[in-house]
Amino acid sequence: MPGTVVVGAQWGDEGKGKITDLLAEKADVVARFQGGNNAGHTIVRDGEEFKLHLIPSGILYEAKTCVIGNGVVIDPHILFGELEALRARGISGDNLRISGNAHLIMPYHLLLDGASEQQLGMYKIGTTGRGIGPCYIDKYARVGIRVQDLLDAKILKRKIKTALQEKNFLLQRYDIGVLDADQVTEELLGYRERFEPFICDTSLLINSALDQGQHVLFEGAQGALLDIDFGTYPFVTSSNPIAGAACSGTGVGPTRVDHVIGVAKAYTTRVGEGPFPTELFDETGTAMLEVGQEFGTTTGRQRRCGWLDLVALKYAVRLNGITHLALTKLDVLSGLPTLKVAVSYRAGRRQLDEFPLRQTDFHHAKPMYEELPGWTQDLRACETWQDLPQEARDYVQFVAEFTRTRVKFIAVGPGREETIVLPRSIGLGGAF
Ligand code: GDP
Ligand code: IMO
Ligand code: MG
Repeated sequence: MPGTVVVGAQWGDEGKGKITDLLAEKADVVARFQGGNNAGHTIVRDGEEFKLHLIPSGILYEAKTCVIGNGVVIDPHILFGELEALRARGISGDNLRISGNAHLIMPYHLLLDGASEQQLGMYKIGTTGRGIGPCYIDKYARVGIRVQDLLDAKILKRKIKTALQEKNFLLQRYDIGVLDADQVTEELLGYRERFEPFICDTSLLINSALDQGQHVLFEGAQGALLDIDFGTYPFVTSSNPIAGAACSGTGVGPTRVDHVIGVAKAYTTRVGEGPFPTELFDETGTAMLEVGQEFGTTTGRQRRCGWLDLVALKYAVRLNGITHLALTKLDVLSGLPTLKVAVSYRAGRRQLDEFPLRQTDFHHAKPMYEELPGWTQDLRACETWQDLPQEARDYVQFVAEFTRTRVKFIAVGPGREETIVLPRSIGLGGAF
């Protein structure tokens, strides 16, 4: 797996952290390529839980190089807080490298994220409030502040002054008051020394690793349905969480990616606002919430739960070029007598077999379900494909066949070891 991308194939929180941590054992470099601390990736190692927001999920292996790529947006306060917390638990974080081209989340981005949500009122997106959208806005408006700007105080101050001209106008309109350029610059420069040892040309680092035959794992955040271009716009995040962004977000060419692993829950969850055709409002949804402990890693918000949406998953397979699926949280479905999976939508009189082009169709889409028998056994002790009850195997097989992918990993618990790695993947055949 010289170049392997791990992406979320739903609305985020699919278990990317767990799968990345598992695969990182065989990788040399683990790189984040988009998003910021809107992400919350959980790893459970020997019963100990780690929640990472910004630092790649390979950080628990001290011998691996971890990269925060140019496509990521960084809140310095969160970054160093996370590093300190890791250090307190015996993980040095010295193996971290940060792209000089990555953009910084500034205090005004946080204020504007909150204010614009308030302004939107009932049309709000339900963002994580971490300043992600406003930071990407500035990146594309070419008034962003980058990590490398910290290395030149004069330029930094000028850039902050320029950015604040418009920001202060907006902040006043929102009745928040104005920020002082000198003070913002001083505060940011306070991080300069701590940043310095980590800053490097991460594109060069990753490409050199690949040239030497090393294994690079690209860790996505969020998921395909939160993609700014292809997700359920406007209820999306402000970056491209799909596999293609691994290239632009780290500075490697598409020819360097060999595998794309899509992580999907065996059911569906979503945090924040926006359409969700298979959402459940009954006791089955409550069971998923409680058994699956579906509370946001970043904001603690309750996640909305529903049946597996195979139309959406097939779409994610297409957008990402997923070569292998990691199906997580299969254990959570134990005890449900019948399992439903959406295989098409109905919009008015039309049957939709593909994810609809028009937002209105998706908003009104009624899922058409196929019903599969459930199982009662607890799956957490299952270590092999054969250990799974027949109904669970049939469920996985159905997912693989419907989406025309191979299932390579089946997670049956949060722990690193609670994962069935299939020697021959289930689905189209062929080995990985
Ligand atoms: P990410 O954002 O995609 O990394 O996912 P999160 O960490 O936000 O959410 C996934 C949650 O499910 C975490 O609490 C994981 O520890 C947990 N988890 C991952 N895989 C499994 C699994 O197979 N079974 C169960 N029960 N929990 C899992
Ligand atoms: P991980 O990496 C789930 C959602 C927010 C909101 C929308 C926009 O842990 O899977 P933003 O703050 O990005 O502007 O919010 O996107 N969202 C996530 N939902 N998991 C995530 O990350 C998310 N990151 C953002 O809830 O609906
Ligand atoms: Mg998460």
